Amino acid sequence: MGNAKLLRVTADTPEARRVKLAPSILASDFARLGDELRAIESADWAHVDVMDGQFVPNISFGLPILAAARAASPLFMDVHLMIERPERYLRDFADAGADGLTVHVESTAHIHRAVQQIRELGKKAGVTLNPGTPLETLRPVLADVDLVLIMSVNPGFGGQKFIPHSLERIRTVRRWLDETGSAAELQVDGGVSATNARAVVAAGASNLVAGSAVFGKDGAQAGLERLREALK
Ligand code: DX5
Ligand code: ZN
Repeated sequence: MGNAKLLRVTADTPEARRVKLAPSILASDFARLGDELRAIESADWAHVDVMDGQFVPNISFGLPILAAARAASPLFMDVHLMIERPERYLRDFADAGADGLTVHVESTAHIHRAVQQIRELGKKAGVTLNPGTPLETLRPVLADVDLVLIMSVNPGFGGQKFIPHSLERIRTVRRWLDETGSAAELQVDGGVSATNARAVVAAGASNLVAGSAVFGKDGAQAGLERLREALK
């Protein structure tokens, strides 16, 4: 019947999958954060990169900036924690306005507990891993998360080049999620641009983070438009 066909089309074709765009405010002009957030209001989420100078070799920003972004924008605040032992700060980030919290498997000896804690705080729980970490490390928590993030650069800096092997990793996780009937978001972060967005979605991503590709010279609205065009 027509309906069944429609279901097949939406499930099987990446073009038909509704892709969420999550601009990373790491690449925005912090002196104009309110304006930058308004410029991305047509996006789906705002991606918030927290770096502690320990887990990654860079320090970005923390709780007060998240709170300011939360106050300035109704967007879903998607907080990517690149910090050691994130369980120490989950409640603080939830209180500061996070809607989703994503933690690295390498950053804690207790990834399962961290995921549980995020859920107990009533937030969407995400899990992620560095490009050099075996995908198998995700599997024990796969059924318990709302989001899996495949890092397509080594975390720590915006503006890096997409690592091609990431496509294979995205395909593998897409297969695992589909096999288990999981509706978790499959997010990809790092070096995503209008040039590769289509291939990333074709590999199975449902959610694209983009920093430098959105907050370019001609403004975030134009950057978002370019990504959307590339996905058509
Ligand atoms: C990298 C961050 C990314 C980064 C993406 O450590 O997790 O979210 O901001 O920036 P682009 O899109 O410029 O690679
Ligand atoms: Zn990120």
